[in-house]
Amino acid sequence: MKEFIAKVKENSAIANGIYAMTITLPEEVEVKGGQFLNISTGNPAHLLKRPFGIMRKEGKDITFCYQIKGGGTICLSQAKAGDELNVTIPLGNGFSLPESAKKVAVVGGGVGIFPLLSVIETVKGREYYSYIGFRGSDYACLIKDFKSASYNLTIVTDDGSIGQKTNAVAAFLSDCEKVQPDLIISCGPPVMLRALKAQLKERGISTPCLVSLEERMGCGIGACLVCVCKTTDGTNARVCKDGPVFDINEVEL
Ligand SMILES: Cc1cc2nc3c(=O)[nH]c(=O)nc-3n(C[C@H](O)[C@H](O)[C@H](O)COP(=O)(O)OP(=O)(O)OC[C@H]3O[C@@H](n4cnc5c(N)ncnc54)[C@H](O)[C@@H]3O)c2cc1C
Ligand code: FES
Repeated sequence: MKEFIAKVKENSAIANGIYAMTITLPEEVEVKGGQFLNISTGNPAHLLKRPFGIMRKEGKDITFCYQIKGGGTICLSQAKAGDELNVTIPLGNGFSLPESAKKVAVVGGGVGIFPLLSVIETVKGREYYSYIGFRGSDYACLIKDFKSASYNLTIVTDDGSIGQKTNAVAAFLSDCEKVQPDLIISCGPPVMLRALKAQLKERGISTPCLVSLEERMGCGIGACLVCVCKTTDGTNARVCKDGPVFDINEVEL
């Protein structure tokens, strides 16, 4: 993990309230799918850096996508090419896919799809069955990218404006018996991850499942404990340092 002054290369809207930003680092860093960066907002009124999943790395260029939520992301959306932002990268553990996991189900909702794309674009030699959910067509993005990296892609929306009118967990479960994945990887809103955990348990599906969590963060490097989550053995884990990727059975959702 290193701290850099990065230059904004591109920053533009890709869907309703969702932006893709590419920054150029002064040197190349090794990044694993599911790791994240912590980036300054460019405005001292929003002092804390904000965490975002790394979506793509091309040489010294790093791309992440972000949804406007509050002050920090509004400031980021105003950054222009050439602006300088302070970034700490890479952070967190990322997804570790065992060699034995040949068929991988990818279950993503909303902004959770961004770190998942980085896994399926970089970890080769697997059959990815992706189930990607959006609120509606206005929020849909990166469909072409998922299409070219996935063996099989199912798009769903809450309102049925594209794909089936359902959610990503339900779409995956209706396919699960046919696909028989060796591993499930997932990232999305807490309600989605809770539903995934409950449904796997209810249906007696014992396929290993790795989930990436999003918690509010302070330092991003394991020092402040703002981001702790409860583990099923009754201890705490730091999402920034011990995660953000956990075995679904290891954490309380
Ligand atoms: C490991 C990790 C990876 C993430 N990856 C992405 C990503 O790829 N794309 C993306 O759009 N967002 C991602 N997030 C969430 C993103 O960090 C927050 O949306 C952002 O920090 C909000 O900043 P803000 O100043 O605009 O909002 P604030 O004004 O700080 O908050 C506005 C709203 O956003 C919620 N919020 C704030 N921080 C977080 C957080 N860390 N997680 C969830 N909700 C939060 C608040 O509860 C509040 O409701 C990630 C978060 C983590 C922890
Ligand atoms: S954000 Fe400080 S310990 Fe995780």
